[in-house]
Amino acid sequence: AIERTLSIIKPDAVAKNVVGQILARFEGAGLKIAAAKLVQLSRAEAEAFYGVHKARPFFNDLVNFMVSGPVMIQVLEGENAILKNRELMGATDPKKAEKGTIRADFADSIDANAVHGSDAAETAAQEVAFFFPGMQVYSR
Ligand code: CMP
Repeated sequence: AIERTLSIIKPDAVAKNVVGQILARFEGAGLKIAAAKLVQLSRAEAEAFYGVHKARPFFNDLVNFMVSGPVMIQVLEGENAILKNRELMGATDPKKAEKGTIRADFADSIDANAVHGSDAAETAAQEVAFFFPGMQVYSR
């Protein structure tokens, strides 16, 4: 089925100037960029977005990292987009990510891991609505 998923190119990858290379991987895999914005998240936004991880020991480091510089947030759309994006990203921990994945190629650590992608249909819908409310997503 055609799906939408939320993708974030994190501050480490934006700072490395590899936004275009990462977007090219999505496009090369047949995913379309249905929405995109380069933004500096506020602490409140980062805390709310990652609210599901609030009780985890890494929550504070995660929020601090996500507000450390601008991020490139996109909605990716295409056949099986949620799983396809997760395969392109590779494992959360770049040390465990398969060769040729975005995290294997661009990430430095489990915190500075280059990209975020929604993990399931329900979270994808929530995450897309969080960053692109209303009419800011363009199917084609
Ligand atoms: P992300 O997909 O953005 O979702 C939550 C983030 O928390 C994750 O990527 C990692 O960058 C970060 N993180 C740090 N430590 C851990 C951990 N032990 N397990 C999962 N995520 C972690």
